[in-house]
Amino acid sequence: MGRNRYVGRVIECEVWWARPLPVETRHLDLLDEPERGRFEAYRREIDRRRFLTGRVLAKTLLGARRGVAPGDIRFDATCEDCGKPHGKPKLPGVEFSISHSGERVGLAVTTVPVGLDVEADTRRAEDSLIEYALNETEQAALRGLGADERASAFFQYWSRKEALMKATGRGLKIPLQSITLDGARLAASADAALNPEATHLADLNPGEGYRAAIAFLTTEPVTITEKPWEI
Ligand SMILES: CC(C)(COP(=O)(O)OP(=O)(O)OC[C@H]1O[C@@H](n2cnc3c(N)ncnc32)[C@H](O)[C@@H]1OP(=O)(O)O)[C@@H](O)C(=O)NCCC(=O)NCCS
Repeated sequence: MGRNRYVGRVIECEVWWARPLPVETRHLDLLDEPERGRFEAYRREIDRRRFLTGRVLAKTLLGARRGVAPGDIRFDATCEDCGKPHGKPKLPGVEFSISHSGERVGLAVTTVPVGLDVEADTRRAEDSLIEYALNETEQAALRGLGADERASAFFQYWSRKEALMKATGRGLKIPLQSITLDGARLAASADAALNPEATHLADLNPGEGYRAAIAFLTTEPVTITEKPWEI
């Protein structure tokens, strides 16, 4: 009798990296009314472009998966706190996460709850920000580093923590200090939404000058494929 080998499920995830698109009618036409309102509410052109790109990217890729036109994809982004359309966008039957920073707009698509975060690491990592986000052990790991290395290490931590918080759908309502990391692994969490036994965390490659991480709420192994996106 042959050996019975159990082959478990592997979760597959695609991460797409785009650059902010120009404001063009063909892109704007993909926004529904609440999204158009959010677009208009941003004062800075670059914020508008980042928001627009996240939506165009998500609608184009999710539409292609379903065999429907991008404009026919409609997200529910109702905020669980206030009811305004600025919450985590959702679409039945798929799990995805959007993140933007500087010249990067990312989209992760998969089948389990996911959080993606990208951060430009060219900003200064102020002491107050470090003290706000990192616990004592994590802060100790940054001591003695030069300014550039410190910023890079800090934004790596920050992106990992934010990816975890985004995976829960609660975002920054989970205190950053309540999460303890051991490299790219969740070591401990004071919040019930994040169980280290059922969480998968990984660093990504968004390119020079950026740090990014992705978190999944699952006990299964995950394979991640990163791709550039050109429209
Ligand atoms: C989500 C959050 C972590 C964003 O962080 P950020 O570094 O500024 O931005 P990022 O680019 O990484 O992520 C923003 C994207 O996350 C998604 N998002 C929004 N709310 C989210 C949430 N609660 N959980 C997970 N993802 C969320 C959206 O897709 C958003 O981009 P979009 O609106 O352009 O589609 C932060 O805004 C947050 O915690 N929000 C929820 C709590 C809150 O502020 N509530 C008060 C509103 S009443």
